[in-house]
Amino acid sequence: MTDVSNLIIRPLDREHDRPGFHCGVVSLDDYIRKQASQDVKRRVSRVFVATAVAHPNVIVGYYTLSSLSIELCQLPKTLARKLPRHPVPAALIGRLAVNQSVQGHGIGRMLLVDAIKRTLAVSDDIAIYAMVVDAIDEGAQRFYEQFGFSLLSSESRRLFLPLKPI
Ligand SMILES: CC(C)(COP(=O)(O)OP(=O)(O)OC[C@H]1O[C@@H](n2cnc3c(N)ncnc32)[C@H](O)[C@@H]1OP(=O)(O)O)[C@@H](O)C(=O)NCCC(=O)NCCS
Repeated sequence: MTDVSNLIIRPLDREHDRPGFHCGVVSLDDYIRKQASQDVKRRVSRVFVATAVAHPNVIVGYYTLSSLSIELCQLPKTLARKLPRHPVPAALIGRLAVNQSVQGHGIGRMLLVDAIKRTLAVSDDIAIYAMVVDAIDEGAQRFYEQFGFSLLSSESRRLFLPLKPI
């Protein structure tokens, strides 16, 4: 069940066992249980879940994707001076979480790579300059930093990564 090669990632649907998901962070558990389906229905967020092929309803991890724009003043000067003087489009991974029982087996990495690949796939048709993530705490920030994300500002835990093929 923890072997990433046996996992598939697909959009959240009503068959998924949302109450059974526990990642250890109450707000992220509550989100998938109570809010995720509403957000999908209202088209304000897309939610993708990882499940094992053998247990297609058990959510082992999830992430959310939506769009946003980044103000130029939030970007490092070295990047901002190469860009036009208006906000740049980005894709936001608002939440990303892995079931507590299977953390540390590469599933978080797999979800992050999937989110980036999915974004790259649409970025030929809709321009997207960067991936942005909201880290929930210092541990999550370190998780993203090791994949090359850097803080957008010292006042929040929002990080970004200019998009390029991986
Ligand atoms: C953070 C989280 C998503 C990581 O998922 P995971 O499946 O446990 O992580 P992986 O096994 O894919 O780890 C990939 C790499 O990240 C590192 N890593 C994982 N969690 C980390 C943390 N909290 N701090 C620093 N590094 C971390 C791993 O050591 C691994 O590095 P390695 O390849 O050099 O060994 C998961 O622990 C989780 O859901 N935590 C609770 C919710 C949360 O914090 N979400 C974060 C986004 S808001």
